[in-house]
Amino acid sequence: MNILGIETSCDETAVAVVADGRTVLSSVVASQDDLHRPFGGVVPEVASRAHCERITAAIEEAVRASGLGPESIGAIAVVRGPGLVGALLVGLSAAKALALAWGKPLVAADHLHAHAYAPVLAGFDELPHVALVVSGGHTVLYIVRDRLAPEILGATLDDAAGECFDKVAHMLSLGYPGGPAIAAAAAGGNPRAVSFPLPLVSRDSLDFSFSGLKTAVYYRLRRSSTGRGPLPQISDAERRDVAASFQEAACKGLADRAVEACRRTGVGALSVGGGVACNRRLREILTEECRSAQVKVFFPPPQLCTDNAAMVAGLAALSMERGAISNLNLDADPTPLRSR
Ligand code: KG4
Ligand code: ZN
Repeated sequence: MNILGIETSCDETAVAVVADGRTVLSSVVASQDDLHRPFGGVVPEVASRAHCERITAAIEEAVRASGLGPESIGAIAVVRGPGLVGALLVGLSAAKALALAWGKPLVAADHLHAHAYAPVLAGFDELPHVALVVSGGHTVLYIVRDRLAPEILGATLDDAAGECFDKVAHMLSLGYPGGPAIAAAAAGGNPRAVSFPLPLVSRDSLDFSFSGLKTAVYYRLRRSSTGRGPLPQISDAERRDVAASFQEAACKGLADRAVEACRRTGVGALSVGGGVACNRRLREILTEECRSAQVKVFFPPPQLCTDNAAMVAGLAALSMERGAISNLNLDADPTPLRSR
């Protein structure tokens, strides 16, 4: 079955058509980075308005690029949460309108379960597996036995990994979004220049905490644990060293807990997803650690790591198989992961 998926949980207006939960026929992603850059982060109201302006064209383009007509599309899938409520509502309204106008079933998808599904679209078939989902809004470790109901093994207690990259990039005046900017600056720096704390809660826990790492970078840049106002100027060489040392700690912490999750569950396959999974250093460290732990690790291509709607349309094929169809009363569920 061909499914049209819609994703508007944050700052990407995304629509895709996927065949049989596996083959991406089209995937349109309209990024809003330029709109949010001047603010140094996603502004929810700006995101909602941009989704309203872009959603119709994104749907038209995804249908056109798929080469299919509405008669060949079997269902409309949409992310209902977690995410920004105003942004989610735009996608939900568009999905309901299409489902009603075309007479198709409506399927709800969880944004994070969709991230954990994304590797399947790149040929990853293992079950069960551990999934590390690391994005601007979330950091979570799942064991996936059933792709529609991944079980949480650990999650961040405070900042998400991507949020921490974005905030540290801001402190280093590296611009937004911070992840790619940190990665670029880190390429010319020394990862051993500063010893930052790993974003772990304790050796017993599979949870993460990024606030201590973020604060450690702040105090390093402030050069003391007191003081206010703008941060002192730093040289480009120091900026690169701090970026590299921060990236090293963030990626080591993520890799360490992901491999530990595999060890504790006895599961021999790990996938990664979410925007931070694009990070080259994270991929290198995971490759190394998984090799010594004899865990098979799978990295989807970057366009399946960052927010996209193909992962939503793919996951929805499983819901259709199980008859898990929603009605037009479907509402957004923006509840953050840690309150679920
Ligand atoms: O999954 P995503 O596109 O959107 C959310 O659901 O949040 O992830 C965006 C996040 C941003 O915080 C961005 O800075 C981060 O992913 N990111 C990276 C890299 N590319 C994107 N973080 C580290 N290294 C990268 N190369
Ligand atoms: Zn996401």
